[in-house]
Amino acid sequence: MHIVFHPIGVIHTPYHDKAPYQPVEADEGDFFIEVFPEYREGLQDLDTFTYIYLLYFIDRLNREVSMKVEPVWAGEIEVGVFASRSPLRPNPIGLSVVKVLKVEGNTITTTGLDVFDGTPLLDIKPYIKDLDSKKDANYGWVEKTGDLRHLAMHILGIPHEY
Ligand SMILES: C[S@@+](CC[C@H](N)C(=O)[O-])C[C@H]1O[C@@H](n2cnc3c(N)ncnc32)[C@H](O)[C@@H]1O
Repeated sequence: MHIVFHPIGVIHTPYHDKAPYQPVEADEGDFFIEVFPEYREGLQDLDTFTYIYLLYFIDRLNREVSMKVEPVWAGEIEVGVFASRSPLRPNPIGLSVVKVLKVEGNTITTTGLDVFDGTPLLDIKPYIKDLDSKKDANYGWVEKTGDLRHLAMHILGIPHEY
């Protein structure tokens, strides 16, 4: 089966060839989404949510997709690509949760994002309290790596000295 998606907008960030591994809420710079005018009406009521999901096409991959990956922040651990958040996957669809700062016309201003400037946006969905947070969620294989606090800093791009 061949599936064709059409972008609904473009994500703008200060990043061109290097970005955090996951969104950093306190990141500085301009992060905004330009939704194409024909989808503008679909943004009604989006600003009633604190957080939203962004789904996008990771369009500038320059390495081969592999079924096993070694997340850069996790030392020498190898895991299956579907047990990872690696951008190198058979269908390079990215998912980020960001805070909505404002929605004006067809522009959504958000907190920090982990994508390159110009990344094509595929969809937006509201992040809904309780529906989207599971109290018994765990860290999966990340628990086996030991230092969860240290890993969290790598994942979130928080600068640290060790
Ligand atoms: C680890 S992925 C995580 C993406 C998303 N938060 C997720 O979990 O699906 C984030 C990395 O993808 C890479 N990246 C971001 N935008 C990209 C783009 N448009 N094309 C290629 N690589 C991109 C950057 O190296 C960034 O650090």
